Amino acid sequence: MNASDDRSAAGREGLNRPLGETSDDRSAAGREGLNRPLGETSDDRSAAGREGPDRPRQAHRPIVEARGIHKHFGPLHVLRGVDLVVAERELVFVIGPSGSGKSTLLRCLNRLEEPSSGSVMVDGIDLLDRRTDLNAARQRIGMVFQSFNLYPHMTALGNVALALRKVQGKARAEAEARAMAALERVHLADRAGHYPGQLSGGQQQRVAIARAIALEPRVMLFDEPTSALDPELVGGVLQAMRELREGGMTMVVVSHEMGFARAAADRVVFMADGAVVEEGPPAQVFGAPREARTRAFLGQVERA
Ligand SMILES: Nc1ncnc2c1ncn2[C@@H]1O[C@H](COP(=O)(O)OP(=O)(O)OP(=O)(O)O)[C@@H](O)[C@H]1O
Ligand SMILES: [Mg+2]
Repeated sequence: MNASDDRSAAGREGLNRPLGETSDDRSAAGREGLNRPLGETSDDRSAAGREGPDRPRQAHRPIVEARGIHKHFGPLHVLRGVDLVVAERELVFVIGPSGSGKSTLLRCLNRLEEPSSGSVMVDGIDLLDRRTDLNAARQRIGMVFQSFNLYPHMTALGNVALALRKVQGKARAEAEARAMAALERVHLADRAGHYPGQLSGGQQQRVAIARAIALEPRVMLFDEPTSALDPELVGGVLQAMRELREGGMTMVVVSHEMGFARAAADRVVFMADGAVVEEGPPAQVFGAPREARTRAFLGQVERA
């Protein structure tokens, strides 16, 4: 078995285990990930050694590798050469002013938007290659938006199972068993038979998260998952995300929840005007931002 088989097996294992029940190995990796620059894990040294001394060392192999992304909408040049590399199990938090291109960047990562130029690799698949089966590739990329987009005439279980049946062709019984397991992971098993109209906004968003994780993606993209929620409902969604992270999920999160970013992000990326201005560990970006634009943005957020 080669190293990548090994890692993807670990990833799958992570997805099937209930949230919050991390193995020692995984939680150790998570803790290390917070305080240490990527590239210095012990388990990676041998891999780096095999690759030779000149190759950059990565703690875990990149799951997302977007390079030189440009996006034009007519005359608007909204992404101006963005690089975003996300290592396995990393939680990268993207912040920036309205209109800076955060959503467009996320949408380029699963090709809901087609970049004007650049390259996007997800889990080793070239998303911009015409030969790539986009539907298959997109199953590796879960996405959660501000609006939950659940079908109102279907129960929570039905909504989650539908994706498994339609996208993965699972038979009803298997789809429902997996859907139930996904609902358990967001602590909503007891609401499986409820319709969206009978659930709070926070619960609906957790159903949307369950719908995404049921497909066992390799990376989850979140675009302002809590910004449509009443304040008292935000915590449950953030908790589900935190548990997802602890279970080893690779995540890219666009959000204004700076407290969550400080506590849970491995890396914070600050974007402005379609470019990455600054990035680093949360303690550095929030505590000692290097760039004047970052300081100005954080100052506005704090005053808001
Ligand atoms: N489909 C589109 N057609 C034309 N312009 C677009 C389209 N989508 C986004 N834009 C423009 O691209 C720019 C970046 O938008 P984007 O939604 O990525 O910003 P954002 O950082 O996510 O902002 P917000 O914080 O408000 O969500 C904006 O000027 C927006 O108006
Ligand atoms: Mg946006």
